[in-house]
This record gives sequence, C-alpha cells and structure tokens, in this order.
Amino acid sequence: MTRRTADGSAGDADYGTIGGSYSAYRRPEPRIAALIEQALAGARTVVNVGAGAGSYESAAFTVTPVEPSASMRAQRPVHLPVAIDAVAEHLPFEDDAFDAAMTTFSVHQWSDLESGLLEMRRVARGPVVVLTCDPDRVREFWLYDYAPLVLDTEARRYPAIRDITATLGGHTEVITVPIPADCVDGFNEAYYARPERLLDPAARQSCSAWSFVPPEQAEEYTERLRADLASGAWEDRYGHLRRQPHLNGSLVLIRALP
Ligand SMILES: C[S@@+](CC[C@H](N)C(=O)[O-])C[C@H]1O[C@@H](n2cnc3c(N)ncnc32)[C@H](O)[C@@H]1O
Repeated sequence: MTRRTADGSAGDADYGTIGGSYSAYRRPEPRIAALIEQALAGARTVVNVGAGAGSYESAAFTVTPVEPSASMRAQRPVHLPVAIDAVAEHLPFEDDAFDAAMTTFSVHQWSDLESGLLEMRRVARGPVVVLTCDPDRVREFWLYDYAPLVLDTEARRYPAIRDITATLGGHTEVITVPIPADCVDGFNEAYYARPERLLDPAARQSCSAWSFVPPEQAEEYTERLRADLASGAWEDRYGHLRRQPHLNGSLVLIRALP
C-alpha cells in the first residue's frame, strides 16, 4: 500500500510542503521535450505518470496525466488535461490502454519502483519512456564540492539504470540527455553554468533532494557557494563551464519497447 500525505503526495517528497513554486522553476526545457517527443513518436495516446504540473506533455499526443499530489495538480495550466489522482504502483487503467507511457523526474520518488514500472509496461502497448538521472554520475557535478549531502541524497534515491531497464524488459535504449547552458527546467545540474541561481531558496526548494537536508546544513552549503562566487574560487575551478554550451551530466532518457 502506497503511503500518502495530506496533500496526496505518494513519493518520498511532500509536495504539499515543497511544491508551491515548482511550476515557476521547473518549466519544460524545449530541447529535452523534443527528445521525449521523438522517443514517443508514432503514439497517439500517452499516459504521463507522476505528471506534476504537466512538464513535457506534448500537444502532439492525447495525454492522460496521473498525479497524486493535490498541490502539483493545482499548478497544471488550464490548457492541459486535468490529472487523475492515482499512483504509479496502481494505475487505474486496462491492460494496453495507451499507445505509450512516459514519466519524467519521478521514478526516484516512488515507494515501489518495480510495481510502478510494471504498471507502465502493462498499460502501454508501445514504448515506455523514462527521463531520470543516473545515480552513478550524480556526484560528478561540481555541486558535490559544496552540497555533498544533497547529491548523496540524489544518488541514493535515483534507481540504478540497469534496474529500470531490467524491469521494463524487451528492447531498451538509454541515451545521455545534453543539458543546455540556459536550460529552463531548474533541476540542480541545469545550473551548471549559472551557479548563482542556486543561491535562490525557491530554486533549491524546486529540487526535492534539498528538502532531505536539515535547513541549517543547506544554509551552510549555500553560504560556502556564495563565498566562493564572491572570492572568484568557483570561477577559477569551474568558470570554463560558463562557456560550455551543454553538459553531458547524469540526465538520461530510457526507451523500452515490448
Ligand atoms: C520532480 S516531480 C516531476 C513532475 C513532472 N513529471 C516534471 O517533470 O516536472 C515528481 C512527481 O512525481 C510524483 N510522484 C511521486 N511519487 C509518485 C508515485 N508513487 N506515483 C505517481 N507519481 C508520484 C510527485 O507527486 C511529483 O509530482
């Protein structure tokens, strides 16, 4: 049985507490959206699991969003379909109900990864598409110098890519998703070339891993970054990243065909 908070949140993060400004900071990045659309090509109907405020739902498909958190459902723009209140682990649909299934930045929060993925496989006739982060690569990001517990949390939460592909079975492909320097979807690595953005508390709150670190610790991490930006120490070590057009970091797109 999936445990849910007062807001309905069904994962390891409570969006009733941290989700208030999510849609302002976590907007769909068009270049990532194009890759997802490509992975779903040929589908007409798509179920989006852990749909949140609707990022990456393309008008090219008839999308059925599933989202357990009331706070996240409330942030969906009016032009998008209303999300169904349900969890990945028990999708309220018939077998093969959709041409395809997608989920973005969500699998690491589910209480039962295997059940959720098998449910996606069950309700989709065609591709299951998962946008997630590779836990083996999370600590390569410079933020690890400043906020180790935040990235340790990320690395612990994200499931191993081989576990996702093994559970989905069939024919699977995994690609690294290049993160543009001006990425409009504000996950931690999206700020690789704009470190000062992480000094904004609302930007940090929109990356759920920060909510697992005590506030005093998060404040100390932020002060360390602020000091290195002021002294030029960050610039000396990582300033070249400001001129790098994209980062091949931990973000990956998995596509599994039955
Ligand atoms: C980081 S947000 C991502 C939202 C959206 N997919 C996006 O890319 O912006 C993670 C979402 O997964 C949802 N979630 C967490 N656990 C879930 C579960 N067990 N079943 C379905 N959705 C879940 C959360 O409520 C939240 O909206």
